Formats: sequence, C-alpha cells, structure tokens
Amino acid sequence: MKWLVTGGAGFIGSNFVFYLMDQYPEDQIVCVDSLTYAGNLETLESVMEDPRFSFAKVDIADRKAIYALFEQEKPDVVVNFAAETHVDRSVMDPGVFLRTNVLGTGVLMDASRQYGVKRYHQVSTDEVYGDLPLDRPDLFFTEETPIHTSSPYSASKASADLLVQAYHRTFGLPVSISRCSNNYGPYQFPEKLIPLMIANALNDKPLPVYGTGENVRDWLYVTDHCAAIDLIVRKGKEGSVYNIGGHNERTNLEVVKTILHTLDKPESLIHFVTDRPGHDRRYAIDPAKIHRELGWLPTTAFDEGMKKTIRWYLDNRAWWEHIISGDYQNYYSKMYGNR
Ligand code: NAD
Ligand code: DAU
Repeated sequence: MKWLVTGGAGFIGSNFVFYLMDQYPEDQIVCVDSLTYAGNLETLESVMEDPRFSFAKVDIADRKAIYALFEQEKPDVVVNFAAETHVDRSVMDPGVFLRTNVLGTGVLMDASRQYGVKRYHQVSTDEVYGDLPLDRPDLFFTEETPIHTSSPYSASKASADLLVQAYHRTFGLPVSISRCSNNYGPYQFPEKLIPLMIANALNDKPLPVYGTGENVRDWLYVTDHCAAIDLIVRKGKEGSVYNIGGHNERTNLEVVKTILHTLDKPESLIHFVTDRPGHDRRYAIDPAKIHRELGWLPTTAFDEGMKKTIRWYLDNRAWWEHIISGDYQNYYSKMYGNR
C-alpha cells in the first residue's frame, strides 16, 4: 500500500510515519510537508534514507504542485495531518489557518478524486465541538454533538470537516474523519502546553498558566492516536466520523504540577497570566463508537505517558533547544511578553 501523509514533519504526522514504518514493512510512505515553523526535518532524520520513505517539500494549498505529486506517486491512501494547529497563533493571525486548513484540504480532495485515491482520511479535532461546562462532568462529545466552534483554528478545522463530508455526499469520494482529543508525546513543538512547560521548567523559567488553570483537556498519548487512525483507514466505514480519546481529563494546573513534581522543580515557577481570548473550558471525548465498531482502546495510561514524554524531552534536549533558540524567541515575547 502507498500512503501519502501530509504534515509528516510535524508532531503527530511524524509519529504516524514512524508507526506505519514499524507496523507495515511492505508499505511505501510519501511524506508531504511545506516545512512551516512547525515542520522539522530533523524529526525525520532516522527514516530519510529508508527506501520505503520519501519526502516532498510541497504546500498542500499549491494545486499545481499537489497534482504533479499525485501524478507521480499515485497514492492508494491520503492521510491529511497538514494544518496550522496552534489556537493562540490563530487569534493573532487567522488568515493562514483558512488557507491551509480549508483551501489545502479542498486541493487534496480534488487531487484524490482525480487520481482515484481509495481512502482520503481527514485528521480533525475535538475542538470542532466547542467546549463543555466545567460543572457537568456527565457530558461528553459524541459524533452527534453539533459543530460549534470558538477560535479561528477550530472554525477552520470544522469548515474542512464540512467540505470533506460534502465531497463524500456529492462526489462519492471515499473519506473518513477522526476527531481526537489533545495529544502529547515525543516531537511536539514547544508552543503547546506540555512541551512548553517542560522546556521552561528545565530552564527554571516561569510557567505561564492561562486564567486560573482550571480549564480541562482530555489527554491521549500520540501513539494511541496513530493506531486509531490506522484502524479507521483500514476498517472504518466510508463517510464516517470517529471520535478518539481515552478518558484522561486533567485541569491544566494538574498537568503543570505533574511536570514540576516529576522534574523536582518548585511550584513557585507557576505564573498565572491573562487568559486566552475565547478559551474553551473543557474537552471530553466519548470514544464508544471507535471501541464498539473497530475495537480500539488506548494502551498508554496518562502517568506512564507523561513519564515517557518527560524522559524524551530530557534525552532530546538538542531537538527542542534548537527550536527555542531561533524565531521562537520572537513568538514567545509577542505572546507572553506583556501578559
Ligand atoms: P503540528 O503543528 O506539529 O504539525 C503540522 C505540520 O503541518 C507541520 O509539519 C507543518 O510544516 C505542516 N504544514 C502546515 N501548513 C502546511 C501546508 N500548507 N502544506 C504542507 N504542510 C503544512 O501539528 P500536530 O499537532 O502534529 O497536528 C497534526 C494534525 O492533527 C492537525 O491537523 C491537527 O488539527 C490535528 N490534531 C492535533 C491534536 C493535538 O493535540 N496536537 C489533536 C487532535 C487533532
Ligand atoms: O483538542 C485538540 C487540540 O489540542 C488540537 O486540535 C490543537 O491543534 C492542539 O493545539 C490542542 O489545542 P489546545 O488549545 O487545547 O492546546 P494547547 O497546548 O495550546 O493548550 C492546552 C491548554 O493549556 C489550554 O487550556 C490552554 C492552556 N495553556 C496553553 C499554553 C500554551 C496555558 O495555560 N499556558 C500556555 O502557555
């Protein structure tokens, strides 16, 4: 089977490439990534020379380049991870989110139609459902929960989902969509909560917690997400949406304290800062459908996953220090300077 994996130089996409190469030695993988600030070829170093793997620096919204690539590679399956993914950046500059997340998805689906792709899989997010109140722990997002977005990021992802469903109904494109909760694990860019807090704690810098730190996220170890996507592509029903999550809800403050305790750093490093505009209160996935239909269950418990993740950032300092020494400094002072 030949896979075309977009966004493969980013966090989840790279983990998915490693997952496929490990599980399916016969498969071919074409990784497509335009290498934005979030894409990193160092992440893919270990597979670059593997004959089963190839890399193309292409923007998914560049129709001509995408068609040329499909003409050359004729993939069986497309898995679209490529996206602008950081909510805070979407508040600062929404335009690029619309271009990549909406138009880019449209271009990939047009090419998938043209070249007879057998499955187009859209990697979406639980953020398309908006948020849940903090005082109703009985409520969860199901696949039937109405789309109701809060940020330019989540609105762009929801728009893409609608387009994917329209291509299925109107053109019969064989699609599937997955909506996962927050991921954590190796190779996550240090603008996101967990790697940012690990990096700051290791550098004895303040840990900027938005608002009161009571917002809740539902954490899933990245390999469990990869396994779920693989299962959906192979066995999931065409045209279907699958939620992915492992019932691992934590407040942001709990997550930050776990990091500090594991690294033996003081809680005095925690600094409460001005809240994110439109900040979603709670995400919580009901994963009953993917369990019932496909037998998927997560395998990494939160405590174990956090230990592995913190260990990875300790063992791979060069990877993230390289990132935070560059343009990231400008981003950091713009985002956190006056907060
Ligand atoms: P990431 O920001 O780490 O990586 C995104 C990758 O896409 C980067 O390598 C970047 O260079 C590439 N990219 C961006 N614009 C592109 C373009 N126009 N053309 C080609 N490549 C482009 O993101 P991530 O956290 O790995 O997320 C991957 C996908 O999973 C996204 O679609 C995101 O919405 C979704 N998702 C993420 C999470 C999470 O917790 N991180 C949870 C659920 C769903
Ligand atoms: O739920 C899936 C989504 O999870 C994905 O679709 C997004 O691509 C991904 O970025 C993530 O979105 P969040 O906004 O939940 O993740 P982030 O790591 O930015 O923030 C997690 C929580 O931590 C959120 O409540 C905001 C808070 N936070 C974040 C940062 C970066 C802080 O308190 N301080 C910070 O410095």
